[in-house]
Amino acid sequence: MAINIKRPNGTEDVLPKDVHKWYTVEKIARDTAESFGFNEIRIPTFENTDLFLRSVGETTDVVQKEMYTVMAKETKFTLRPEGTAGTIRAMLQNGLLNEAMPQRVFYILSCFRHERPQAGRLREFHQFGLEMAGSASPCADAEVILLAKTILDRLGLKNIELYINSIGCPECRAKYHEALRAYFEQSKDELCETCQSRLVKNPMRILDCKSPVCGKIAESAPLILDYLCEECSEHFEKLKGYLTNFGIDYKINPKIVRGLDYYTKTVFEFVTTEIGAQGTVCGGGRYDGLIEQLGGQHVPALGFAMGIERLLITMEKQNAEFMTPKTCDIYFAPMGEAALSKAMLLAKELRDYGYRAEYDMIGRGIKAQMKYANKIEASFTMVLGDNELSEGLAKLKEMETGEEFEIKLDDKFVDNFDSIYIDKMLNSLDDAADALMTEPHGKEN
Ligand code: HAM
Repeated sequence: MAINIKRPNGTEDVLPKDVHKWYTVEKIARDTAESFGFNEIRIPTFENTDLFLRSVGETTDVVQKEMYTVMAKETKFTLRPEGTAGTIRAMLQNGLLNEAMPQRVFYILSCFRHERPQAGRLREFHQFGLEMAGSASPCADAEVILLAKTILDRLGLKNIELYINSIGCPECRAKYHEALRAYFEQSKDELCETCQSRLVKNPMRILDCKSPVCGKIAESAPLILDYLCEECSEHFEKLKGYLTNFGIDYKINPKIVRGLDYYTKTVFEFVTTEIGAQGTVCGGGRYDGLIEQLGGQHVPALGFAMGIERLLITMEKQNAEFMTPKTCDIYFAPMGEAALSKAMLLAKELRDYGYRAEYDMIGRGIKAQMKYANKIEASFTMVLGDNELSEGLAKLKEMETGEEFEIKLDDKFVDNFDSIYIDKMLNSLDDAADALMTEPHGKEN
């Protein structure tokens, strides 16, 4: 039987030529979160299955249809389908919720959901997410939304709409569930089997069922905003005021219920229509009851997560800028064994100084070595042969201009290389500045 060693459906490889795009998203998200007072947390890839049943919710699609669960010895473990449950579990287990409030953490992690793969929907995907615990104030909701918006803006993304809604607290939810039950009862027989059982256990989940029939029926269902209690209404009104204060445009979408059970009050999504059906690049909200549900005190909390693959698809579609990938600073082309030993030492010294240095490790001829240096876009090259070694002097060639610099192979080598390298950098910055200065005026004149 043929062995299948191919990448599983719904997973992706990130190749070296593309990894700088990931660094761009990760760096911007990380720096922005840090500037808002968040610190990174790293949590396990798998957790006890019960954690997700308790938090994400037993009647959600994620738990009912999408989890990767294994039985190891006598215990059931699940690959995390999202980051909130594990993060809150870690905060509780490590006593972070007994420290100064609010506690603010962010994470970059892989998630696993057994969904039908399509553009922007994977079975292993990556999230940048964050959680804030300890504030019940709507100003925290506005802060977290501002943070998400700042990241999207700094990534250069355009035409992303922010949709907000409130799904209330358990008090408003009880009345809303009654109204939903009465509504869906009329079309009970048409609902899918899962939704028929949801009708009894958790009718709100019918609202985000992926079956087209259930979706059609849900279109005219009662809206949660009409059932909010006074406190939840006031919270929502204040949030809207704070968003306006920040100059953040938003639309109210009373149909957002989110696919996870832990949410209370504010929920929100940032959506683009430019990448097809899977256009939600960020989703989040408040979950004031979750920490208690997981065995902690009553600590209000909230957060969001962004799908990194969806951010990247949108950035590429919109020609957003990525960090420039790092290329080779200097390539040594040695001829002969003695020259190779010297190249190895010079490269080692430069690397200790932070430079990216390479030399031939295959024993290629000089022509093939230079071809390779071009291919890896080396900024400088240096040929080392017997002459260079005996004279203690070699030529450093700047590949872009062809300019050559004589450089001694003595204990000042790194300093000398450093000053030539910095001069080149300053020159190219000057050229870039000149180009910027002349461009618009040139057109006008
Ligand atoms: P979520 O809406 O399930 O929320 O996922 C957040 C984001 O992850 C989505 O908006 C989307 O960009 C991305 N995403 C979700 N599923 C997939 C998939 N199959 N393929 C690619 N990308 C996907 C949560 O996970 C919550 N834990 C967010 C949160 C944090 N709420 C409060 N704190």
